[in-house]
Amino acid sequence: MTETILRVESLTKQFGGVVAVDKVSFEVNRGEIFAVIGPNGAGKTTLFNMITGVLPSTSGDVYFEDKRLTKKKPYQIAQAGVTRTFQNLEVFDNMTVIENVMTGAHITMKTNMLTAGLRLPGVVKEEVKTMSRAIECLEHVGIAHLAYEMSNTLPYGSQRLLEIARAAISKPKLILLDEPMAGLNSEESRQLVDVILKMREEGMTFIFVEHDMETVMSISDRLVVVDNGVKIGEGTPDEVYKNPKVVAAYLGDEEEDTIYA
Ligand SMILES: Nc1ncnc2c1ncn2[C@@H]1O[C@H](COP(=O)(O)OP(=O)(O)O)[C@@H](O)[C@H]1O
Ligand SMILES: [Mg+2]
Repeated sequence: MTETILRVESLTKQFGGVVAVDKVSFEVNRGEIFAVIGPNGAGKTTLFNMITGVLPSTSGDVYFEDKRLTKKKPYQIAQAGVTRTFQNLEVFDNMTVIENVMTGAHITMKTNMLTAGLRLPGVVKEEVKTMSRAIECLEHVGIAHLAYEMSNTLPYGSQRLLEIARAAISKPKLILLDEPMAGLNSEESRQLVDVILKMREEGMTFIFVEHDMETVMSISDRLVVVDNGVKIGEGTPDEVYKNPKVVAAYLGDEEEDTIYA
C-alpha cells in the first residue's frame, strides 16, 4: 500500500519579477527515494527552501503527513519530521564532528541556549542523550571513528556524510538532500548511495536533487523534472527518459550522459 508522506500543491516563489518556482505540484510516498532534476537555475533549491521553511512561499501549500507546513518555521518543520542538507557544504569548521552532528538536535531539544547555559541537571542528562544519539548517527553513515576529529580535517566526502548524520539526529521521517553527490569521487558517491539505501531500508523517505543521471536512474523510484520553475515531467526514471518534453529540454544532446541539476 502506498501512502503519501508529502504533498506539494501548486507551490510558487516569486523573486521580484522572476518566478523561480511556478505552481509546482507533486506527491512523495512514504519510503520512496524521490529525485528532483532540472537545469541550473530551474528552481530546485528554491523548492527545497520552501518545503523546509527556509523561504516563505508566495503561494501554494505543503502538507506533510496531512499536516499543513505552509509558512511554518524551519524548527517547526524539523519537529514535524522533515530535515535537510544544503547544496553548499554547511559544516562548522571550528567544531568536532560530533559537535557538528549535535547541532542538528538543538532544533528539537527541550532546552534552549539560556537554560543550557545554567547547566541544570536535566540539561546535562539531555546533552548526554544527544551525544549518544550523535554517535549512533555517525555509526550509521560509517564515520563514527572520526567523531572527535575537527570537522575541517575530514575529506570532503566524509563531511557530506557528517551532514546526513546531522540531518538524521532528530529522527526525521523525510530528509531532503540538495546535490549530495556534488564534488564527490566515485568511491565516495558509492558510499553515499549505500547510506541512502540503508536508511531507506529502515523506513526513511528521501527527496534529493542530483545531476548525475546514472545515480538518479539507479536509486530513485520516481522523479520530477523542473525547467524554468515549471514541472515538465514526472514519473519513474524510465518514463521520464521517454518524455519528449524532457528530452527536448535538455536530454537533446545525444553525447551527454549527464544533465545539469
Ligand atoms: N534569494 C534569491 N533572491 C533572488 N533570486 C533568487 C534567490 N534564490 C534563487 N533565485 C533565483 O531563482 C531561480 C532558481 O534558483 P535555484 O532555486 O537556486 O535553482 P537551482 O537550484 O535549480 O539551480 C534562479 O533564477 C535564481 O537566480
Ligand atoms: Mg540548487
